[in-house]
Amino acid sequence: MINRINNLVKSVHIALTLIGLPYPVCSLETCKAISSSARSLCATSSTIMPSLLHVKARCPLYPGSDTRRFPVPDDKVKWETEWPEYSPVNYTAPIVLKRPVWADPDIGSFTPRFNSLDGSVDRRSHVGEYRVKNGRPLNPQGRTGVIGQGLLGRWGPNHAADPIVTRWKRDSAGRRVIHATSKLPLLQFVSIKRKDCGEWAIPGGMVDPGELVSLTLQREFSEEALNSLEASPQEKEKILERITKLFNSSGLQVYKGYVDDPRNTDNSWMETVAVNFHDETGNSVSELPLQAGDDAGQVSWIDVDSAQPLYASHSHFLEVVVKTRHAHW
Ligand code: BGC
Repeated sequence: MINRINNLVKSVHIALTLIGLPYPVCSLETCKAISSSARSLCATSSTIMPSLLHVKARCPLYPGSDTRRFPVPDDKVKWETEWPEYSPVNYTAPIVLKRPVWADPDIGSFTPRFNSLDGSVDRRSHVGEYRVKNGRPLNPQGRTGVIGQGLLGRWGPNHAADPIVTRWKRDSAGRRVIHATSKLPLLQFVSIKRKDCGEWAIPGGMVDPGELVSLTLQREFSEEALNSLEASPQEKEKILERITKLFNSSGLQVYKGYVDDPRNTDNSWMETVAVNFHDETGNSVSELPLQAGDDAGQVSWIDVDSAQPLYASHSHFLEVVVKTRHAHW
């Protein structure tokens, strides 16, 4: 019986991953201008989108540019819906056109092996096989109003990893703090303020070619929340010792799949693996001094609360952590 229930829970999780959940919070200004049905869902910053459609990936103004997406209404998102009038804008950001090491060449000038491990670049999607039309990979969630790479380096999936480091909030006597209304203990997580958009976020980042996700999780956390890039060799060693212990403990995978990210295009999109590492006793990573580094402007332990607006789908990831650890939301 227990096995059957476990299998059912697993199937539901898999199904949700395949349809592209989570449906993220809308805290971006640009989200406000999309179709009316989506707009109503954007009303509160902590709402998880109950729709099956990506929303931030259709935000009218492409981030960091003056490029306006070709507007895609909800009923035209899916590729299966015929739409001969669809005329997406071609946009690849100047920084990507300079072809830095992290960016692919232009389509036509190289022969990527889509849906495969292409040398050290993983072009497989977490959500299954994606279609390739006229040599270009198609966003598995559907139309975005933009073709090209936008701000993303890879044609097809761009893989990220998000380490969610948590601890219990404690009072000065070391007791767990209980929320007055929900009567549940409060969790805190290490959050960074992103330099690019000023939003609070999990200190995640891109998986380097050939890198194991487990290493990306630890590396990004060390670089962004502990500023390991600028640490002295002795400090680096101390950081590495503490952090390796926590990240070697078995983390709780809370999400693996497509991310509704404002940088997505019809041909390039974000995917992530989000994993929770919990410092139950509060004396492992909790004791390391946080220091913002790399892409982070600020870093802090912040209370996990549904009212806290967060970048992209990060609020959804935290909700899963909270539910699993029976904490306040
Ligand atoms: C961020 C991750 C985020 C991903 C998808 C990456 O640039 O570092 O935290 O989950 O994009 O939005």
